[in-house]
Formats: sequence, structure tokens, C-alpha cells
Amino acid sequence: CGIVGYIGKDNATSILLNGLKRLEYRGYDSAGMAIWQKDDSIALTRRVGKVANLASALPKDQDDAGLGISHTRWATHGGVTEPNTHPHSSCNGLIHLVHNGVIENYEQLKSTLSAQGVTFSNETDSEVLSNLIAFNLEQQDEPITEKSVHKAIRTSLANVEGTYGLAIICSKLPGTLFGARKGSPLILGVGKKEMMLASDASAIRARTREVVYLDDNQIVTLTNDNFSITTMEEDEVVPEISTISWKDEDAELGEFEHYMLKEIHEQPTALENAFRGRLDLTEGTCKFGGLNLSRQDLRQIDRILIVACGTAWHSGLVGEYLIEKYARIPVEVEYASEFRYRNAPMDKNTLVIVISQSGETIDTLEAQREAQRKGYHVIGIINNVGSTIARENDGGIYQHSGPEIGVASTKAFTSQVLILSMLSCYLGRTRDLSYAEGCKMVKAIQELPALIKQSLSLADSIKAIAKDFAKYQDFLFLGRLEMFPIALEGALKLKEISYIHAEGYPSAEMKHGPIALISEECPSIVIVPDDETLKKNLSSVQEVRARKGKVIIITDSHDIPSSLADEIIIVPKAHNCIQPILMTIPTQLLSYYIAVELGKDVDKPRNLAKSVTVE
Ligand code: G6P
Repeated sequence: CGIVGYIGKDNATSILLNGLKRLEYRGYDSAGMAIWQKDDSIALTRRVGKVANLASALPKDQDDAGLGISHTRWATHGGVTEPNTHPHSSCNGLIHLVHNGVIENYEQLKSTLSAQGVTFSNETDSEVLSNLIAFNLEQQDEPITEKSVHKAIRTSLANVEGTYGLAIICSKLPGTLFGARKGSPLILGVGKKEMMLASDASAIRARTREVVYLDDNQIVTLTNDNFSITTMEEDEVVPEISTISWKDEDAELGEFEHYMLKEIHEQPTALENAFRGRLDLTEGTCKFGGLNLSRQDLRQIDRILIVACGTAWHSGLVGEYLIEKYARIPVEVEYASEFRYRNAPMDKNTLVIVISQSGETIDTLEAQREAQRKGYHVIGIINNVGSTIARENDGGIYQHSGPEIGVASTKAFTSQVLILSMLSCYLGRTRDLSYAEGCKMVKAIQELPALIKQSLSLADSIKAIAKDFAKYQDFLFLGRLEMFPIALEGALKLKEISYIHAEGYPSAEMKHGPIALISEECPSIVIVPDDETLKKNLSSVQEVRARKGKVIIITDSHDIPSSLADEIIIVPKAHNCIQPILMTIPTQLLSYYIAVELGKDVDKPRNLAKSVTVE
């Protein structure tokens, strides 16, 4: 879900609307807005569906007084209905709020409040919170002031179990906006005679670049030209103001029809940004400024645990192959949500790497905290600068991919793979990897942007293939070694944006079960690198063909007979440390064009959210 709040001299409605549009990738089940009007009333508008629905429902004559809160929802508790849409208001109309996160003890709070005569109008945990704060405010039995509302928020949150990012207004306190955070991101934007609250910087970047990243258990009070932050214990916090560096045009669609297509085409630049300043040809290695690991620490690492979710988990799997191959360090890759609740044995020389584009995925954040609690050094591979995971880890490598707006990750994935490849070179060079091999890797990485450009030139032919294959309901993606995770990611991409069932499998595993699915109706996409596995991969292709399955081969070999497949897509040949990236490009384009062919909402596929900040 996404939160935007505004207080200042300008029209809050349009600023909130713009902010919400930027945050839509966080969820788009429904959207709503509460605006303080000049007659001191609060206008509440909520609509099911995307922000555009809300925009067209807003009254034209809204007498905006420059204060408001808004939200775009990814449903957790309660169906996708208008009453369940934020902002939520207390039954006495005193408190209006927008909430990200999950209040775990909401049922218990709800029954306690009900017993006191409080009434509820929807199924959400967030409405309970608005009633709880309003109830505690009334209980104080004193005039409503900034201080009394602050106290009611504190008292209420002390009784809440779960997570929240909140923006709150009190209908009896003009000119003040409150925010609070625990477990769900919240950023304060400091402008000129205006302040903003948002769940991430993209929503406020158009107004200000000066931001304060709030920490857990902090409450912020904002007025037009001032803000103050306290802890839950009411201690003042000295704010640290950071400047965001992304350019506005990075988040614009430009000439492209969809963000996903734009981001696919941005990969030459995004990957260059990931390696710029990090290659050292003199030493035949890569270098990273922010790992906070001494040479000795590096030498002592004898196991690596990679923790991530979704697409980032797939990049971690590629990392496993590359790090084991080039650095000879055993690697395991865990789903963050599993790691957190397992009691995985770890020894003292284990390095934990978390990977997250957004830096806000709660499962990954909690896994990082769990690893840190156990005393491990955790480094991050993160795109979103200043995100919670990036701020809390012990060191890391920023991806510098620029904002990724399309819900299906593309450039962030390839940049994660590249960073893991560079890390394998770096760690390898502290061990057995030779200078010569290190140099080969570094040179290959330098070539990558040009090779990606060549792969992207396949777009038109892949579009034509997509037209032919869009009619199928099931796909298998097959790959071996480093290409197995690329097959998994290819299947995920297709599933996410076209709602076609697709499964990724190690090529040879196909015969141990999935082969039962193969028929004329279930095509296979087989990734066949020109290496020692080529013949084995082609055997898998034959097994599919023998069962009348259609085959698309993605390869860097020019020697595969055209009779072996229905389509052969040839990408440039490169060093094995970057070949998985080149193989990824056709899978992205294929998914994209199939989804377009089927008329799907590519950038905002149903049910998904780009950044999931609830467990
Ligand atoms: C969500 C998105 C996925 C993404 C995953 C991890 O589920 O829909 O596309 O891969 O979160 O996101 P992160 O920001 O941690 O990389």
C-alpha cells in the first residue's frame, strides 16, 4: 500500500493525487483521500480500483485548505470494497487516518472498544486504529491540542501489536498532520513552507528532495513550516535530513508504451550504473566501497547465506552458482519468509546477503533483523537508496538502477545478477581466482552494455514469436546450472503479467515429472548456452519434441539446427559470468509481448504489488 500526506500552502488534492499515482505500484485495489476544507470540514472520497477512479470521483469544487491524507490499497484485511478503502475515520469523526501494515491484535481491540460503545463500519484493522486513537483522545477529557492528540496516538500505539506506517489528522486540530512508523516505511519530505509524508520517496520527489527517513517507534508532528519527531517515550529525535538524487525524468514513461518496456530498454544504462567505479582492471577484480568488511573478515567467510523474496530470490540463486564457481565459497539461498521462522544453523563465519529492489519488503527486512539478532554481518544488495533494509544493514552495494515502476522486475533483476557476479569475482580474488580469470571477468562486464543493446535489437522478432505463442495456457521454462534460475525468473515474469501458468525447471528434471504436462498445448522455452551442457540440453529439447511439444530455444550458439526447434533466439556470446544476464533479455521481451498481445495490464498486473510491506 502507499501513503501520501501533505500540509502546506498549495492545493493538497492535486499534490496527493500526483503522489498516489507514483505509489500505485505498491497496490491498486482501491484509493482514497481526506482533504481539509476551508470551512474546516473534511471531505472524504474513496473508490475501488486504480487512482484514476479516485481522480475522476473527486468533487471539482473541493475547497482545499492545503492539508490532506491519501492512500492506495493492496488489500490484506477485508475485501476490495469502498468501505474498506482508506482513509478510515473514527465513529465520532475525530480521527482520520491512512495505514500501511497489519494490526495483529485488532480483533481484541475491536471487542474492547465495542464494549465501550464504539461502532465500526468496515472489516479493516485500520479502522480499529482510528477508533482507538479517537477513544483515547476523548478519554483525556481536556481541550484538543497538538499535545493531547500526540498523547492519544502514543497511548494507542503502545497497545497495538503489529506494524504500521500512519498519516493521521484530527478534525478538531487544523494545521497539523501526524505520522507514525513501526515496521512499515514512512518518509518525511521537508519543503518550503510545506511538509509531506509518504511511504516512499517517489511520491514526494516532485515537491522536495530533502527527506527524513523515520525510524521505527517514532511519531512525527508536521505543520506548514515545521516538524518535530519524538520517540514513543516522548524523547525528542534530532532529525537527519538526506537529499534524494533520482532525477524526475527517471520515473517518466517517455516514448514507451509501458514502464516495463522502458525498463527493459534501460538495462544497458542500468547495468553500467551498477558497475561504474567498481571495476579494477589493474588488479583483475571488482571493488565495493560499502561492505564494511576488512580483508581479514573477507578471508574468514566460509559460508554465504542469501536471503530474498520473489525475483530477488531468483537473482540470489544465480549468485549461488557464480559465487560457488568463482569464489569457491558454499552458498545457500533462502526465501526470507522461511529463513525468519526457521532455526537455520549458522556458524560464525557465515556472511548473510539480503537482496531487495525496494529495500522495504517486510519478509526480507525481518529476515535481516533475525540474522543481525543472531550476530551475523548482513550486507544488502538494494536499489532503493535510504530504504529501511539499506539503512539497517551492516554494509552493502547499491544497485543504482534508478526507479523501477513496472511491477514485474526487469532491470533490477539483471543488475542484482551483475552485482552478484562482480561479488563472485571480488571474493574469488581474495582466494583462488587467478588474476587472468579476474581480468577476463572484468573485461566481460565492461562489454555488457553493448551486448545488452544487441540482445534488445531482437525485440521485433520476439514480438512476432509472442504473437504465435500467446494462445497457450501453460509453458515450461527449462535451464541448467546458472540458467536454471533464469528459467525460474522467465516463468515468473510470464505468470505475473500475462496470468499464463508457467513453471521453471532444471532441464534434466523435466523428465522426472513435468514431462507429463508436455503436449501440443504446452510449449517449452529452453535456455541452451553454448558450453559443456549444450548436448545435454539438446537432449531435453528432443524429449519435448518427441512428445509434440513446441520449443523455443534461447541460446548463444549459432550451430543449433533450425529443425530442432520451432523458434531459435540467438543472443550474443559472452563470458559465463554475464551470460545469464544476456539469456534473461529474450525471456523478458517474450513475457512482455505475450501480455501485450493478450491485452493485459502489464505495469499493474492483478493482485500484485511491487513492494510488499506486510508479512
Ligand atoms: C513483490 C513483487 C516481486 C518482488 C518481490 C521482492 O512480491 O511483486 O516482483 O520480486 O516483492 O521485492 P524486493 O523489493 O524485496 O526486491
